[in-house]
Amino acid sequence: SSVRRSTAKAAATTTRRRVATATTSEYKVAVLGAAGGIGQSLSLLLKMNPMIAQLNLYDIQGTPGVAADLSHTNTQTKVTGYAGADSLADALKGCDLVIIPAGVPRKPGMTRDDLFEINAGIVKTLCEAVAANCPGALVNIISNPVNSTVPIAAEVFKKAGTYDPKKVFGVTTLDVVRSNTFVAEAKGLDVNDVDIPVVGGHAGITILPLLSQSYPATKFDADELEAMTVRIQNAGTEVVEAKAGAGSATLSMAYAAARMAEACLRGLSGEADVYECSYVASSVTELPFFATKVRLGPGGAEEVLPVGDLTEYEKGWLEKLIPELKGSIDKGIAFANK
Ligand code: NAI
Repeated sequence: SSVRRSTAKAAATTTRRRVATATTSEYKVAVLGAAGGIGQSLSLLLKMNPMIAQLNLYDIQGTPGVAADLSHTNTQTKVTGYAGADSLADALKGCDLVIIPAGVPRKPGMTRDDLFEINAGIVKTLCEAVAANCPGALVNIISNPVNSTVPIAAEVFKKAGTYDPKKVFGVTTLDVVRSNTFVAEAKGLDVNDVDIPVVGGHAGITILPLLSQSYPATKFDADELEAMTVRIQNAGTEVVEAKAGAGSATLSMAYAAARMAEACLRGLSGEADVYECSYVASSVTELPFFATKVRLGPGGAEEVLPVGDLTEYEKGWLEKLIPELKGSIDKGIAFANK
């Protein structure tokens, strides 16, 4: 519970620090897919982060415009646009953190796995370039299906001889952000204080919010618990349907990715007690990848925390999600090795 409390506090401190005057500005960050819906909003938020000295915006198109636009904001982060595959190596050189939201988003009726055909290849290519140009960087993967794209990244890095399991993160922060928001609304809590761990993966039933471990402690009756769990699992689809063909979550995702990026940088800087949930290489379950709370430090995911005490209800979901998540992991590994 002290871990939970420090996470909630850290999130609140983070928000305040973002608007405060700059102190350190030392990190170099690349966004791959920076001209997209997530990429643009995320780049704006990163441009406001005083820890980032240099922000490299890479996409196959559109980044000269996005970079020119952002470069006029009076924050000290320098921004440079890189467009087209020929510029990818330059975009990555010297980066401490690489964030990947490149790829196609869902349309109504699609699952995240329907994106596999296109996004698997994009993530593979981009990770090969990371291995060649900034092999020591932390990598935050947003491109869906995250349950498969993270194993793909790991395989690519293994092949290149650069794999460090502590440095590859599937970004599941949006599931936590949504859980905190929905629970605060339902229970009339200050949203800055709420912290709900979300474990498993990032698609449908593989998303398992641990409402029994909510901070502050919160009571749900059986119907409420079921409704809240299912809403969190389907929250991405709520947005896909509301956007009616125009894509999936971009603004809330950018917010969540900026929070994850900042946590990674604070970890790199040696700050203590930085925790976020993330989908990482893990020995918490029998699966090679699993999302739980991780402690971020100078080497990346310094510690992968266990799931903690689960209720019977949560154990039921965990049992159901394991085979589905396993299938997505195997599919990613098979793709990377074919
Ligand atoms: P978008 O279509 O608006 O933007 C994607 C961008 O990627 C475009 O600018 C496109 O030019 C670029 N791109 C395509 N191929 C590329 C390549 N080979 N190299 C570099 N850039 C490339 O899509 P949006 O809405 O920004 O979503 C991006 C991804 O994020 C999707 O896969 C989506 O499913 C995923 N996503 C993940 C979430 C999560 O919680 N992890 C939440 C929401 C979306």
